[in-house]
Amino acid sequence: MDKAYTLTPANVIGLLSDNGDGEFSGQSRYGQRYNAPYIRQGRYLLFQSLDRLTPDTILGLMAQFRADPAPKKVDLGVGVYRDLSGNTPVLNCVRKAEREVLAAQTSKSYIGAAGREEFNHAVEELVLGADHAARRDRRARTLQTPGGCGALRVGAELIKVAAPGAAVHLSDPTWGNHAPLLGGCGLKLERYPYYDAATHELRFEAMIERLEAAPAGDTVLIHACCHNPTGADLDSQQWQAVVQVLQRRGLVPFLDLAYQGFGSSLEGDAAAVRMVVERVPEALIAVSFSKNLGLYRERVGALIAISENPVRADATQSHMLQIARSIYSMPPDHGAAIAAAIFADPQRKNEWIQELEAMRGRIQDMRTLLTDRLRQATGNDAFDFIRTQRGMFSLLGVSRAAVERLRDKHHIYMLSDSRMNLAGIMPGNVDYVAEAFAAERG
Ligand SMILES: Cc1ncc(COP(=O)(O)O)c(C=O)c1O
Repeated sequence: MDKAYTLTPANVIGLLSDNGDGEFSGQSRYGQRYNAPYIRQGRYLLFQSLDRLTPDTILGLMAQFRADPAPKKVDLGVGVYRDLSGNTPVLNCVRKAEREVLAAQTSKSYIGAAGREEFNHAVEELVLGADHAARRDRRARTLQTPGGCGALRVGAELIKVAAPGAAVHLSDPTWGNHAPLLGGCGLKLERYPYYDAATHELRFEAMIERLEAAPAGDTVLIHACCHNPTGADLDSQQWQAVVQVLQRRGLVPFLDLAYQGFGSSLEGDAAAVRMVVERVPEALIAVSFSKNLGLYRERVGALIAISENPVRADATQSHMLQIARSIYSMPPDHGAAIAAAIFADPQRKNEWIQELEAMRGRIQDMRTLLTDRLRQATGNDAFDFIRTQRGMFSLLGVSRAAVERLRDKHHIYMLSDSRMNLAGIMPGNVDYVAEAFAAERG
């Protein structure tokens, strides 16, 4: 029999109702309701109140794709880079650095809640630049985290500790995991308009208007580059305008940098972050190396917190460390050791930059190719927006029904909001995909 908890006055706080047939229900002290059979048996099952959740949509889509026997099937759903053979490769610089790391390792003893010091240092340089004023003034503190997700969650917990009533404003639309990661600790979430999938344009004025109305002290989560799922980024003038609102309204930027190097270059994709951090007293930056180092499963990321002065920065850091300890204690070491070895060796770093350039170039080539083929297939330029957007994703901008037809009739898989991963397009399938898009648009 399942492990059962005895129903005692300590864990049941009241028989709430009698439905007239002698059936009673009760409520545990945690607020769950229990029905009569459990009460009569005198036991209290912990998981009795849990209903089965619908499966995560991306995982469900992956399973459906795997089970589809059609040889021409195309996966545009899952958000990982793929090379021309459809593989998500281990980068050469990673393979070499990994060998060195393993050969040099003499201990697997604990590393501490902050992770590797040299990794944190190198991440700050990579993101902010070596000479950024925030670093010179000792206002930046960096914590190695389990991926970008870990950074987002620790950042959310930090906001919750500092300002429990503050809201976090997310772009509409945004990556599907932002709301669970940031809202999961109890923070209030708000949305600001960002992109119109039907017209394929930013809703910039509406965004500014919404931020102008946000209460001081709230946090605004902004994708630093390669917006997921839209591929539509703010230009430098728009960033300037956003920063002015942040300053004027006393809003705190939380920048999500998950695709540094996938937009223009490592430096170019960090430009907005550097500019914002120059202009505000406080900021959070969630960094991920899942995509640009291909270290997805190794869980490599960092949270950079910028505080008003070094004393505040030390206090902030002490809370970051405590939060990490209370959730996962310490970040995994292996991937961060590899990343640090690459950052520290100019030759390795150069090799990484070239491999990153190749990934970026392949995606940009597929944007161009797909746009050309869509022009041929439709006879118009309605899909030209795909060419100029950046990063791995674009929203095709078709209905949910069209997404289902693409899947059921053409074996092309994408998320229900019509997000497609351009890295799933190959020279060998681009004609097929373009014709299917043209046939099912709307
Ligand atoms: C916008 C965005 N932020 C953060 C992440 C975090 O990635 P990870 O936790 O795998 O490093 C992702 C990953 O897909 C992302 O798309």
